[in-house]
Amino acid sequence: MDIISPVAWQYALRYSSETDPLLQEIEQYTQQHHREAHMLSGQLQGQFLSLFSRLLRPAAILEIGTFTGYSALCLAKGLRSNGQLHTIELREAEATIARQFFDRSAYAGQLHLHQGDARSVLPELLLSWDLVFMDADKVSYIDYFNMILPSVRPGGFILADNVFFHGQVFAPTPTGKSAKAIAAFNEYIKAHQGVEVLLLPIRDGISVIQKKGDVNAEGV
Ligand SMILES: C[S@@+](CC[C@H](N)C(=O)[O-])C[C@H]1O[C@@H](n2cnc3c(N)ncnc32)[C@H](O)[C@@H]1O
Repeated sequence: MDIISPVAWQYALRYSSETDPLLQEIEQYTQQHHREAHMLSGQLQGQFLSLFSRLLRPAAILEIGTFTGYSALCLAKGLRSNGQLHTIELREAEATIARQFFDRSAYAGQLHLHQGDARSVLPELLLSWDLVFMDADKVSYIDYFNMILPSVRPGGFILADNVFFHGQVFAPTPTGKSAKAIAAFNEYIKAHQGVEVLLLPIRDGISVIQKKGDVNAEGV
């Protein structure tokens, strides 16, 4: 299902800045070598992630779902000079590919790739997050959110990808495990008293979730 008009999408691509050569290489490599290349964020969403990160200037970024490393490198563009980005990938093959691209990037020393199940890795990461990008298995979104929220600084952000789940959540009663899980996640976040949310119709839908609280209490 094309959620955004293909004409509008092409127009937006045409009048947005180009990405850098390494990102272009990752996208091309993934398209040529990975049968799930559609999972990669791509140019427009990647530019959105970079812009968001550059506005925020985070010291600590967390990503769940590295894949071939594209979105992590987009997010890294806003890191402070001493900032760190931690990203978690379940599958060894994808983690190996991402690591090779990370090693060639200007942010190599600031990127930490953890290969394993996010459910096991998350409790080991004891940082206060300025920015989180959730882009792994959709059935775990509510659990990931609840695991992460206490470690997000007040005023910090969680970006949740695929909150339209290919348009399947528009059905009155979504079927399919992931569609049901995302529909439940969207309801859960909208009702949650600890955050504000803006669901943006970018690509497959991104929810911009901000933790409430005194933004001057800690961190930035
Ligand atoms: C949609 S892709 C991520 C795309 C990437 N963020 C990008 O924009 O280029 C989702 C990734 O999450 C990984 N994943 C799935 N379940 C996971 C889990 N439990 N823990 C960590 N990673 C997981 C998958 O292996 C896959 O590479």
